[in-house]
Amino acid sequence: MVRSDTQSTVIDAAENILDATHTHFTHKGLLRGLSSKRVLVDVTVTGGDGWVEACYTGEDKQQGFVSRTLEGTRTKTIGRFRAPGIAELEYWGPDGLTLATTFHLRQASPDHVEGIGWLIGPNTGIGAQIKTFAFKPMFKLALHQDRRVLSSASRNAALSPDAKPVVGPLDFLRNDIAAIMSGRLPDCAETPRTHQIQL
Ligand SMILES: [Fe+2]
Repeated sequence: MVRSDTQSTVIDAAENILDATHTHFTHKGLLRGLSSKRVLVDVTVTGGDGWVEACYTGEDKQQGFVSRTLEGTRTKTIGRFRAPGIAELEYWGPDGLTLATTFHLRQASPDHVEGIGWLIGPNTGIGAQIKTFAFKPMFKLALHQDRRVLSSASRNAALSPDAKPVVGPLDFLRNDIAAIMSGRLPDCAETPRTHQIQL
């Protein structure tokens, strides 16, 4: 379990946690490999009242150190947001859920988010204990990398308060998370979306 706080918003922090593509840039080598090799991945975005999720299939196992150490074969990954501030990442293998990360976030002040995160995996005895011991500093390093990106985004946004956030074509969940946070039904509840990306 880790506890953290960041200069950001719940929307931006949740979007960051659930954004599969930022790992190539923000966590190169840690959660992703050092090569520029990409794999064609299918993404399905669905949602409902108070939740949205993106399901990734066709992915290779992530080549970074953490993923190689902790996971076996991966069949699908799900990133899910639940109101009012839960971000969940699930890694599924052929026999079911192999690894899950859950963050609970709250807007502590207008520009500050507090969060608690858990990493949950199967308890396989001493092997699992060694992995847990090895993983914690890496989890903290990944968090540190994300906090740098989020706080600089927050400082940039403060320079032009009227500017709308830039939402790119790969930011699959950003608009739906924003809709949920303002009490609306996310678009994907009525129209599920599918994408194909090089991840
Ligand atoms: Fe990250």
